[in-house]
Amino acid sequence: MSAPKKLFIKTYGCQMNVYDSERMAEALGGEGYVETKSADDADMILLNTCHIREKAAEKVYSELGRFKGLKAEKPDLKIGVAGCVAQAEGEEIMRRQPLVDLVVGPQSYHRLPEMEAKARQGEKVMDTDFPEEDKFEKLKNRPKAKRGPAAFLTVQEGCDKFCAFCVVPYTRGAEVSRPADRILREAQDLVERGVREITLLGQNVNAYHGAGPNGDLTLAQLIWELDKIDGLERIRFTTSHPNDMQDDLIEAHGTCAKLMPYLHLPVQAGSDKILKRMNRSHTAESYIRLIERIRAARPDILISGDFIVGFPEETEEDFQATMDLVEEVKYGTAYSFKYSTRPGTPAAERPQVDPAAADDRLQRLQALLTKQQREVQDSMVGREVGVLFEKAGRLPGQMVGKSDYLHAVHVADCTREVGDLARVRIVSSGANSLAGELIG
Ligand code: 5AD
Ligand code: SF4
Repeated sequence: MSAPKKLFIKTYGCQMNVYDSERMAEALGGEGYVETKSADDADMILLNTCHIREKAAEKVYSELGRFKGLKAEKPDLKIGVAGCVAQAEGEEIMRRQPLVDLVVGPQSYHRLPEMEAKARQGEKVMDTDFPEEDKFEKLKNRPKAKRGPAAFLTVQEGCDKFCAFCVVPYTRGAEVSRPADRILREAQDLVERGVREITLLGQNVNAYHGAGPNGDLTLAQLIWELDKIDGLERIRFTTSHPNDMQDDLIEAHGTCAKLMPYLHLPVQAGSDKILKRMNRSHTAESYIRLIERIRAARPDILISGDFIVGFPEETEEDFQATMDLVEEVKYGTAYSFKYSTRPGTPAAERPQVDPAAADDRLQRLQALLTKQQREVQDSMVGREVGVLFEKAGRLPGQMVGKSDYLHAVHVADCTREVGDLARVRIVSSGANSLAGELIG
């Protein structure tokens, strides 16, 4: 038997890409590839890229440049670019970087084995179609190997919202939901392989409306179906849009014990003028009222968000409205970004904000969000939480896991194993994690 070929995948960007990278590794696993952690001994390198902000895309070109020496040493090395940069700029990548053998868009991963074979023959191959077939169905089943206790599962892809700053509707295409039976089968399979927590992924996950036996299911209905799977202990989902936060999903946060008290609900900005120009179709007020309803259903829920500062025509007053909204909501965690011009999106044409002003706003917003994050984290001290252990810690006898609220929790002298879900009392709060002790 010939030695297995080695595959190195580097993943950028969102969790959807993490999931896609796993599936690409599995697809190429069928062709005799095993994964390696180092580009140096790889026979094939795949960069699974992100196009959401300019910096993310630029990173890809600089990373590719670094492989030049490697390719010179190893002429058989194949280099591929996958993901959203591949989708958006496939031809340009091929032109700009002759090292690249293969370009594959996010909807074409099931075609990777054929593409790899062609690349081995010395062809340059590119596939950035939006094919009709379901790539997940065409991808080989995940191998039955045991795996870590927390997994991602994509249920929905693409987006029809067309926020004025965002490339996703162009790179990932129109919103599509996977049929419920396929998701349930995949979830069952994951559980049989040791998974106890599943995070349902979608660019607009709460717009999920996949086919079920008696018509389309909502995300809440899908969650209730997953709730029936023995051995699956925790369910999460991300990312949601405020306008798709339906009543049954809000209610599920109060009634479904497996649904974790954590919600990532991006608002992007707090000024109605800016929200309108972002094409968000909600106001600051409607968002705040929505958060109130969610908290009424599940008072301890941890709210997470995304923010953009320096969106075209944002004034200091508009920015203050974002700060006010943050003060009112109190986020447990958040991601904030400086607006990045994406060619082809409507906002790219609008008058841009002075970059220094945008930098300054980002700093002020991040200082406030960090303070809130720390307050929420500190408020966990003394509380009992569930912790799913994911790995051994750096200290002997220590284990690390995630709390119900997604905080990292360290437990010293821990008698539990990876995959165990335990009750833990939080005893202290550090810079980025909590420390706790087992109860009972
Ligand atoms: N510039 C800055 N941030 C952006 N995001 C999306 N597009 C842009 C852009 N052009 C942010 C949004 C989104 C998150 C995934 O990335 O906050 O919710
Ligand atoms: Fe982009 Fe808006 Fe769709 Fe989110 S909802 S993926 S920000 S267009």
